[in-house]
Amino acid sequence: MAFTASLPQDSAPGSAGAVRVCRLPGVYAPQADTRLLLAQLRREELWPGMRSLDLCTGTGVLAVIAALRGARATAVDISRAAIAASRLNALLHGCRIRALRGDLDAPVARERFDLVTVNPPYVPSDDTEAPARGARRSWDAGPDGRLLLDRVCARAPGLLTPSGVLLLVQSSLSGVTHTLDALAGGGLRARVVRRRTEPFGPVMSARADWFATHGLIPRGVRTEELVVIRACRP
Ligand SMILES: C[S@@+](CC[C@H](N)C(=O)[O-])C[C@H]1O[C@@H](n2cnc3c(N)ncnc32)[C@H](O)[C@@H]1O
Repeated sequence: MAFTASLPQDSAPGSAGAVRVCRLPGVYAPQADTRLLLAQLRREELWPGMRSLDLCTGTGVLAVIAALRGARATAVDISRAAIAASRLNALLHGCRIRALRGDLDAPVARERFDLVTVNPPYVPSDDTEAPARGARRSWDAGPDGRLLLDRVCARAPGLLTPSGVLLLVQSSLSGVTHTLDALAGGGLRARVVRRRTEPFGPVMSARADWFATHGLIPRGVRTEELVVIRACRP
């Protein structure tokens, strides 16, 4: 399966302004949240040699785009298939990324980055623990959807260089204010820079009654707002 993402026209020599990435079985198919994060990435200043990190990388599309724009890009994912996909996609685009398998930032815990992007699992789910395997590992994130989000907020200040930028995408169902407050508590200035209302896909639709029962949406609602949060030091 292929996914096409556009690049700023002048940033990828030899490209037609778009990249296509392949998805291996079991790897998250880039979709509306990926696109919203990519739209913000397009607006960010990237420069040759800068250090970028894409956590929860999936196909590696964000890391590949950062690399095509000159970054020394690192991609991390807990899934072996995602790491294979991101390496394959870098190869297909003739760029280098460092793809590391591990839990969130564990493989790069002592490093600092000019740019950190993350589209973590954030869908509220019945289970109190993150799935150990399977497709649900890409989206299930505990009853409040924050199993990974809270960890990202706690780790972000330590991952950024003094002028570093964090870009994070999540759903309105998983506590946008909570994320903003947690990042501010870590000394970062955080704000919502992009919003987009999306109809529920199959995963969200199947859980709509559960969301309503738990007060996450009014009964009958079948949309969520996706937001991109941008955080940096004041
Ligand atoms: C919503 S998908 C995002 C994929 C890709 N960044 C995109 O935007 O299309 C979330 C990804 O997080 C990965 N993931 C889940 N738990 C993780 C963890 N504890 N550490 C690292 N990656 C994890 C999944 O394997 C999946 O690839």
